[in-house]
Amino acid sequence: MLARLAANRLTEIRQIFRQPTRRAFSTALNYHLDSPVNNPNVPWEFTDVNKQKAKEIISNYPSNYKQSAVIPLLDLAQQQHGGWLPVSAMNEVARIIEVAPIRVYEVATFYSMFNRAKVGKYHLLVCGTTPCMIRGSREIEEALLNHLGVKRNEVTKDGLFSVGEMECMGCCVNAPMITVADYSNGSEGYTYNYYEDVTPKRVVELVEMLRKGEKPPPGTQNPQRIKCGPEGGNTTLLGEPKPPPCRDLDAC
Ligand code: FES
Repeated sequence: MLARLAANRLTEIRQIFRQPTRRAFSTALNYHLDSPVNNPNVPWEFTDVNKQKAKEIISNYPSNYKQSAVIPLLDLAQQQHGGWLPVSAMNEVARIIEVAPIRVYEVATFYSMFNRAKVGKYHLLVCGTTPCMIRGSREIEEALLNHLGVKRNEVTKDGLFSVGEMECMGCCVNAPMITVADYSNGSEGYTYNYYEDVTPKRVVELVEMLRKGEKPPPGTQNPQRIKCGPEGGNTTLLGEPKPPPCRDLDAC
């Protein structure tokens, strides 16, 4: 009986992972596994310029609260390391702020803007929260993964692109949307651009523009919409607003 239940459960699980979207999942960012390029024995330290920047960052906090500098230091380390944080970099940050490494891992795993595995120069983050999902974010992700020939969080062979998921980025009014985390400037810092009102066709066009080194204008990709206004133009508040009624205060 138990064996039959277990066999049925196994079949169910296999069916779930046979669905195209599930098959696209990768566990790359869920936990750490030592690899030749990412293990605690790989030496890592800040460059001289960044050592100076790290000192300045720490000086913003009381000397007994050095650990408060963890997020800006991780961010600096990620910029130095081309958009991701190897475990040695996290250990170095822990050493500098004098905390146990687990304290730094906790922060790096909580904030999804910290990448703990290599990402592409352009990391494409598809919003997976309800408004974007209802408006087609699964199809957007499917289009990106199919076009680039990767699973989620895998990097294309040329190192240019990877696709991840982010939760609501506060742009639901123009759902569905993606963010392009642009790490192509190396240690010069990176940028995050929102592309809103995207379609499966439009995200593929955006990828090809980025591949050519173009910088597609961020914001809504729907020509019928101005910023966050209603699609097709305003339908209310079309005239000059009336001034508020005035009271003669002296007559009161
Ligand atoms: S749900 Fe996608 S931006 Fe809010």
